Amino acid sequence: MKSYAARRAKLIARMRADGGGVAIIPTSHEVMRNSDADYPYRHDSYFYYLSGFTEPEAVIVLVAGETPQAILFCREKELEREIWDGFRYGPEGARSAFGFDAAFPISALDIEMPKLLADSPALYYGLGSDAKLDAQVQSWLGAVRRQARSGVSAPARLHDIHVLLNEMRLFKDADEMASMKRAAAISAEAHARAMRFSRPGLTEYQVEAELLHEFRRHGSDAPAYTSIVAAGTNACVLHYRAGSAVLKEGELVLIDAGCEFESYASDITRTYPANGTFSEPQRTLYEIVLASQTAAIAAVKPGNRFNDPHDAAVRVLVQGMLDTGLLDKNKLGSLDDAVANGDYRRFYMHRTSHWIGMDVHDVGDYREAGEAKSAPHEKPWRILRPGMALTVEPGIYVRPAPDVPEQYWNIGIRIEDDALVTESGCEIISSDAPKTVADIESTMRH
Ligand code: GLY
Ligand code: MN
Ligand code: MN
Repeated sequence: MKSYAARRAKLIARMRADGGGVAIIPTSHEVMRNSDADYPYRHDSYFYYLSGFTEPEAVIVLVAGETPQAILFCREKELEREIWDGFRYGPEGARSAFGFDAAFPISALDIEMPKLLADSPALYYGLGSDAKLDAQVQSWLGAVRRQARSGVSAPARLHDIHVLLNEMRLFKDADEMASMKRAAAISAEAHARAMRFSRPGLTEYQVEAELLHEFRRHGSDAPAYTSIVAAGTNACVLHYRAGSAVLKEGELVLIDAGCEFESYASDITRTYPANGTFSEPQRTLYEIVLASQTAAIAAVKPGNRFNDPHDAAVRVLVQGMLDTGLLDKNKLGSLDDAVANGDYRRFYMHRTSHWIGMDVHDVGDYREAGEAKSAPHEKPWRILRPGMALTVEPGIYVRPAPDVPEQYWNIGIRIEDDALVTESGCEIISSDAPKTVADIESTMRH
């Protein structure tokens, strides 16, 4: 059994450290897409983190008291439903397979929860994140309060369980790192496959199909987010999706795609020429973005702050923008002035990193709690520590404008990798996706 029981024990210990109580962690609801067809089901990340259990209609209850207990509520076995929808563990099967102390049918929640909450000092759950649960909690608390005259007390404190869980999830354990490495390796292979497949005349959706094929054939359940395959000028639309535009001779293709494997995301972007050879202006901007990513990756190390890779990337990008005339040297003066002035945001308008884990934009505070504020309303950026995982994804996006050299018009480039912070620096787990100009051009010749 992987780390699920250990994570539950750790969470219970943290709850006990601030007085103990009862925690409720539900999985996600099934959502209808249209008529009788559901959206593909995806369990809740917090729930899965603590259980490994993937059936819908399930709730974990953790009792952090004298005798700690991990309880699962889930669907009962039901032959008729299993004939239509497939196997269900049922409470007893799930209890033993997933290592819970006790399990009940999900239909028993309204009976069991008031008992579990009676005389508990605190209730922990994801405040305001599930309307159905909010209503259930209200009715359970009501049921406990109605027993007040018999001397039963209701929880006096309410905590957001996500605060504790976000902090735990920010630091990946060995099992999580293994899943993330596999997700990144599959996605890197998919990017290489898309490069080998691409040529002028194909459509964005045909290239997307290659990515999806590679994800799925390695056992990925789904893409971690909607794939972006952007030909030519579409690369300058940050949230473009794979559409039906045709890959054209002389244009670039930007792919931002990553699979989810064992519930862990990968998030990789590569940009390459449709015909396999960079033009001079494309190569010039590509080398700037690559150099900025190299500088950012060098800044991903323990002790540095979350924002250091971004600052390193921006300096290299801005120097490149000044050198190429995207930014006006005469107007902006020194590199420091140009960075401070912020005009570069016209060509680089997003941040360089985000946490990554079970969610592609993973949970975890980006600022340190409890440190002195460096400016009003501004807590210092988080210090990087081993076990954290983040993307490094600088880019340059050039829309046509009279003051911009025409040779760069409509070029959009992003290079994105996934980094695990180690004791001495970081490990790039997506590095099998071809990235240098030489590697991309040679991959595309084969
Ligand atoms: N693919 C989403 C992102 O890069 O943040
Ligand atoms: Mn990303
Ligand atoms: Mn991405």
